[in-house]
Amino acid sequence: MILPIYTYGQGVLRKTSEDITPDYSGLAQLVADMFETLAKSEGVGLAAPQIGKAIRVVVVDLDPLKDDEPQYAGFRRAYINPHILEYGDKTDSYDEGCLSLPGINEKVKRPTTIRLAWDDTDGTHHEEWVDGFLARVLQHETDHLEGKVFTDRLTPLRKQLVKKKLNTLARGHVSAAYRVKPPRG
Ligand code: NI
Repeated sequence: MILPIYTYGQGVLRKTSEDITPDYSGLAQLVADMFETLAKSEGVGLAAPQIGKAIRVVVVDLDPLKDDEPQYAGFRRAYINPHILEYGDKTDSYDEGCLSLPGINEKVKRPTTIRLAWDDTDGTHHEEWVDGFLARVLQHETDHLEGKVFTDRLTPLRKQLVKKKLNTLARGHVSAAYRVKPPRG
């Protein structure tokens, strides 16, 4: 089932998400719905707060990038209870967008490597160093689980420049090619 995406101004995007237990009711269906929603909106990552649930569940689909990055062919993964344990020393800047902030794209500076802990949908625990585009996507998505969005990470000047767009979104005026659930204006 395709779920509507909660957009900027919805309170759930500012909540700190909770870890879930492996017996969380309906988890398999939720993950399937999140993958379907992500594919429909042509995104690469989706965090549960973006579909209205303040729980630590993230889905990532990097298969659409396979022409430029062949190592991501078929890469679709659900991350349950992801937590960043450690950051590498190097940073880079890359253009980011977010399904919850349609119409906004800005360069964001982030560490290029992270060590991530997460569980898979079978409950198996993983800890791994991650780099490249995946590391960026996972930092963007785990930010959502901490109640952050990527524009929080802009320089004061860039923040000022996107403020009007953010205010428009927060008033519930949203234009997107996928189903959204904007805040009440
Ligand atoms: Ni996002």
